[in-house]
Amino acid sequence: MAQKNNDEQFKNVISHAKEYGFVFQSSEIYDGLSAVYDYGQLGAELKNNIKYYWWKAMVQMHENIVGIDSAIFMHPKVWKASGHVDGFNDPMIDNKDSNKRYRADQLLENKIDELYSELANFSAENKAKFEEFQQEILGLSNEGQASWIPSFKDEDGILDNAKYPFVDEASWRFVKKGLALEVEMNLALKSENLAQLKDLIVGYKVICPISKTSNWTDVRQFNLMFSTQFGAMAEGSDEVYLRPETAQGIFVNFLNVQKSGRMKIPFGIAQIGKAFRNEVIARQFIMRMREFEQMEMQFFVRPGEDKKWFEYWKDARLKWHKALGTSPEKYRYHDHVKLAHYANAATDIEFEFPFGFKEVEGIHSRTDFDLTQHQEFSGKKMQYFDNDLNEEGKPYGNYVPYVIETSIGLDRMFLLTMINAFEEQDLSTADKQDSRTLLRLHPALAPYKVAVFPLTKKDGLPEKAREIMDTLKFDFNCIYEEKDAIGKRYRRQDAIGTPFCLTIDHQSLEDNTVTIRHRDSMEQERVAIADLGDIIGKAVSWKTLLA
Ligand code: GAP
Repeated sequence: MAQKNNDEQFKNVISHAKEYGFVFQSSEIYDGLSAVYDYGQLGAELKNNIKYYWWKAMVQMHENIVGIDSAIFMHPKVWKASGHVDGFNDPMIDNKDSNKRYRADQLLENKIDELYSELANFSAENKAKFEEFQQEILGLSNEGQASWIPSFKDEDGILDNAKYPFVDEASWRFVKKGLALEVEMNLALKSENLAQLKDLIVGYKVICPISKTSNWTDVRQFNLMFSTQFGAMAEGSDEVYLRPETAQGIFVNFLNVQKSGRMKIPFGIAQIGKAFRNEVIARQFIMRMREFEQMEMQFFVRPGEDKKWFEYWKDARLKWHKALGTSPEKYRYHDHVKLAHYANAATDIEFEFPFGFKEVEGIHSRTDFDLTQHQEFSGKKMQYFDNDLNEEGKPYGNYVPYVIETSIGLDRMFLLTMINAFEEQDLSTADKQDSRTLLRLHPALAPYKVAVFPLTKKDGLPEKAREIMDTLKFDFNCIYEEKDAIGKRYRRQDAIGTPFCLTIDHQSLEDNTVTIRHRDSMEQERVAIADLGDIIGKAVSWKTLLA
């Protein structure tokens, strides 16, 4: 039932986003382009406000972080050096009956989730014990220790284990199978054993959700980068890639920024920009797209101080999310057990979407991997001379800095914001059925801050309303509406998240006051026109989020 409600809520958010001009399917009149979306008139405003919140928090509130805007096209060697040409792959598999393509690991993950669903039958105590056990086992498999798998898979073996006396035996059989599959999948992915991935899909009887058959092709690696030809002539011109992450634009500019900005370690370089990935399966609306936007920051630190800064950014980034007023239990960290070859620590900030907890942001301790690779591939030194003194009173000297990265998907943050703000309120009383749809956006993020309504279209009220709007529009994004009854106009503004509506009536002409109506409480008060700037200004100020 809860799942059905979640699915329904998600569908409602998607249709609301379209109906009010937040998000449209790209090229919709041609039946759309899969996993590519356009932001409409309100979506563009909301997206800009999210970007600004990030830029303000990361760049303008930190003296030691600067922002850049690097090109999408980069020298092809960049992607060789970064590892994307050889390693940015997803294992894919096709079902021969439906001709549908899937990510092999996602098919297996769905199967694992299905087996783990039996955890719902565990007592809280046994669930906690299982999770502890799972972490230990996944840790072992991360180190490649798999010799115990055969005995583990044996039906009863693990039940004897005194340390983990699970009692829910029937369910345990499934959960144990799920854990064994998770371990085997991790090992197959780690060793890039594609035949083993296929064996697991067949062995665990994974079927295609469309054809319901297990008539699978072999698993193949599929590089996620889009490529195109650079130069006028296709023949003889170079193949270049659309960047799959913005981070590399920062790494290759590390010395340019450090020298021109006279930056001292520790310092950060941030940027917001488009990234492109030819995702094998793109789904869940703007959650996984082929063209999307990232907000990334690389923080360059002294080797040995990386762990400290990793913890600092983990904490700072979660605070940034929570400042928006989201209930804390909607967020969690997911520390990576499996680490990418370049990382020595990594965590995801996950948000509870209607389809479960999913990554919104990654915080990675990337060591000196990227700068060292670029040093090697370009032949240019990527070093920093640190003349601060160490404990022995000597300068730290030359080194390749270590890097902590924070990387958040702007579109995912947009989706999170919409989902979190969307509310269908029942306002029925004993006498009357009533409801409203509301976007409870933080006022600083709302596309319009204030809507200006003349009560009627005559008696000089539109002119007075225009006069007020002409003063406010320098500081706030305003919208003017004179059509329909006031109640209907309020409802439309509620649906797009406008925090304040002003009604200009006959009294306004006499005493220069207006009614201000608050979106969330629906309360109305009479205020002087001269005070509007202050009232609205306080509520929408970035200080409410950043102080
Ligand atoms: N530079 C590191 C990096 O790109 P990532 O985990 O691959 O790391 C970072 O991506 C963030 O970008 C993710 O947390 C997610 O929010 C967003 N992201 C990644 N792929 C995406 C896609 N296909 N569609 C939308 N957002 C995506």
